[in-house]
Amino acid sequence: MKTFLMKILLLGSGGREHALAWKICKSSQLEKLYVAPGNAGTSEIAENIAIDINDFEAIGNFCVQNKINVLVVGPEQPLVNGIHDYFESNSHLKSVTVIGPKKEGAILEGSKGFAKSFMKKYKIPTAKSKSFNNTQLKEAIAFLEEKQGPYVLKADGLAAGKGVVIESDLSKAKKAVKNLLAGQFGKSSETIVIEDFLEGVEVSVFVITDGVNYKILPEAKDYKRIGEGDNGLNTGGMGAVSPVPFANREFIDKVENQIIIPTIKGLKKEGIDYSGFIFFGLILVKGDPYVIEYNCRLGDPETEVVMPRLKSDILELFDGIATNTLSERDVEIDLRSVSSVMIVSGGYPETYEKNKAVTIGELNGRTEVFHAGTMIKNNKIVTNGGRVIAITSYGKNIETSLKVCYSNIKNVNFENMQFRKDIGKDLITKKK
Ligand code: AMP
Ligand code: GLY
Repeated sequence: MKTFLMKILLLGSGGREHALAWKICKSSQLEKLYVAPGNAGTSEIAENIAIDINDFEAIGNFCVQNKINVLVVGPEQPLVNGIHDYFESNSHLKSVTVIGPKKEGAILEGSKGFAKSFMKKYKIPTAKSKSFNNTQLKEAIAFLEEKQGPYVLKADGLAAGKGVVIESDLSKAKKAVKNLLAGQFGKSSETIVIEDFLEGVEVSVFVITDGVNYKILPEAKDYKRIGEGDNGLNTGGMGAVSPVPFANREFIDKVENQIIIPTIKGLKKEGIDYSGFIFFGLILVKGDPYVIEYNCRLGDPETEVVMPRLKSDILELFDGIATNTLSERDVEIDLRSVSSVMIVSGGYPETYEKNKAVTIGELNGRTEVFHAGTMIKNNKIVTNGGRVIAITSYGKNIETSLKVCYSNIKNVNFENMQFRKDIGKDLITKKK
């Protein structure tokens, strides 16, 4: 295959972006990587650029001035806001390949109502649901009254991961519906989805697609709650592991046939030209996968375990998207287990302090440090967010990868740091 050197701009500043940057830097096809705005970790391997991820004009100008070939969009917001459309509609930016869908595709994540009707239309397994807008409060309440709990209520639009309410008590659920429809999340909750509660284990599956062809990337399980035993408030994610033992060949085949293929074909049928990543948030119910949500990007912290397991050159995959030749590219997966534990600021996901000096000692085993909320201040690493650092380790199985990971956490230090001590524990099969 002919190789040409690529100049890449990656948007975002989390652990996901550091893991993506780390993977991109391993490519022999890379000429130069910029990250906007990036974090302390990305500044060590790429050039950080102080541009806002939603300032399309500044991003476009930067791409022209620096002859960028590929724009990789980490977070959902710029995609839902139409960054890909902006690049396509400006003739001087048309030559830049954007990794991430246009607005019409990002709506899979940007509107839960859209995603639900899409899944219904293309017979993709998901919880039964009904949408209500802010003129239909009475109908929404009546609908709840006819249902059994637990009640699952979702803001239609983006709500920074806080738009899902699961409530067992009917009167509390009614109150939550009132709050949502009264604009708890502004425009994002002017419409809500009420759906059946599904009981099962969750797993995330990722694909990269050029709109016709797709490649399945390693699956991952993330741990969303702040507290051990999956208790307490929801967070962006406190850790992840890959592979996930219950996501065996039979399960992934079901996911591919019942979910991935109908999704890609459905998008095409709708006339939606989708390129980039699709994140399938799944739940396994009595042996069958159901879609909990679609995201139009990779997950965080899932990317911190998915990228280390991807042996193939990621720029080959990006080139496959640029030239509609994804089907000819290989995806080779590392069979080892990878675990990642997120170290967060004390107080997260509620209020927490920033600007704490971070020290990282010598690491042991096969371990990577992916930065999330960090920045460089006076030549030193300081905390700059709730999720600060993801320690990621390899092992021959989950048990070993977790052991190496936890043994390295003691080499990281900042005031009030906290982390979950039970990441992956539920997946370890006990030996008799
Ligand atoms: P989401 O923001 O869509 O990822 O939802 C957040 C979390 O809510 C998911 O990871 C699930 O744990 C839970 N959840 C969402 N929808 C359902 C459902 N229909 N049944 C059970 N749990 C759900
Ligand atoms: N870890 C969940 C997400 O990225 O949405």
